[in-house]
Amino acid sequence: MDYPKFIENEAQLDELLSLPDQGLIDFMKNLEGDIAILGIGGKMGPTLGRLAVNAIRAAGVKKDVYGVSRFSNAEARANLEAWGVKTISCDLMNREEVAKLPDFPNIIYMAGRKFGTDGSEELTWAMNVIVPAIVGERFRNSRITAFSTGCVYPLVGANTCGCTEETVLEPIGEYTQSCLGRERVFGYCSKAYGTKVLLFRLNYAIDMRYGVLHDIGRQVLAGEPVVNSVGHFNVIWQGDANRIALMSLMQADSPAVPLNVTGPEMISIEYIAERFGKLMGKEVTYSGVSADRCYLNNSSKAMRLYGYPRVSLDQMIDWQAAWLMKGGRSLGKPTHFEVNNGKF
Ligand SMILES: NC(=O)c1ccc[n+]([C@@H]2O[C@H](COP(=O)([O-])OP(=O)(O)OC[C@H]3O[C@@H](n4cnc5c(N)ncnc54)[C@H](OP(=O)(O)O)[C@@H]3O)[C@@H](O)[C@H]2O)c1
Repeated sequence: MDYPKFIENEAQLDELLSLPDQGLIDFMKNLEGDIAILGIGGKMGPTLGRLAVNAIRAAGVKKDVYGVSRFSNAEARANLEAWGVKTISCDLMNREEVAKLPDFPNIIYMAGRKFGTDGSEELTWAMNVIVPAIVGERFRNSRITAFSTGCVYPLVGANTCGCTEETVLEPIGEYTQSCLGRERVFGYCSKAYGTKVLLFRLNYAIDMRYGVLHDIGRQVLAGEPVVNSVGHFNVIWQGDANRIALMSLMQADSPAVPLNVTGPEMISIEYIAERFGKLMGKEVTYSGVSADRCYLNNSSKAMRLYGYPRVSLDQMIDWQAAWLMKGGRSLGKPTHFEVNNGKF
């Protein structure tokens, strides 16, 4: 695939994020039934919905894609409708509203709460544990890929090549503990009702408007010290993460199956910051002491199942630097990748 040298604007970015490959197109030919994306209104959902529609159209099959959310962002809903996703407004915390949703054979579950956990722990637990219980019971006959996070693992050194799906889970702090709660509730439903579930342990999707590369690049461009408290991290192009999310429906099973989803590299903060410094003509300074224990996931299993990401790390760095230098839009939602004490 020939990618553009730079991403000119958001329309082009959304298009790139929603480009299906032949593997996904073939997958749609074999998947039975419609797809619903619950919690579609956030950062990843809209282009996931559009990617699914594009793959279905290219496959020439008849299948609907539903997007369920509260749609606090009205623009996200309008875009989804224009792209061919059928939207349904629903607060997933509300049992009565969830009961009225149609049956969906395939579900991608994306709803969750992270930021602002410190001080509002009850809301985070309710969102990340009670809602999965409501959804898990209502959709016990569906096939479910449930988004989780790589932060359910312990912090490890880069020399370990990251945590695998077999690593014992040791979440730090209430946000990541509530994410383990989400996994356990979906795991319970999978065992109790035989629901086919895949636990999608994602580390840091990259879209030019947010993400770890965005956050580091923004600091370099502004001449601010780059916070290097975590030392290393992993990232994956959001289009690749979303492609894997759809295809992972086929690996959902009972008992629930975990899957690490991120890029293949263990990347150092300093490597990225220096690359941005060169591309932007900026001197790089640092704050914080580089720790040798970080959130790092080993995505070998996903790479074997779905292939390496189509967009390379090198490509993402070039695109991100250019995007920031020309003042491309930022969502203003920092990832807080530098947090290693569980306080989000
Ligand atoms: N992006 C990443 O790099 C990353 C990394 C690790 C894990 N994850 C996880 O992957 C999932 C998707 O990521 P994301 O970045 O797209 O998350 P996000 O921006 O937080 O989007 C999730 C969306 O879920 C919807 N939602 C929340 N509460 C709801 C409720 N009660 N009823 C219906 N919808 C509700 C919200 O949209 P409305 O306001 O429209 O309801 C929200 O925007 C999340 O669970 C996230 O924690 C993401």
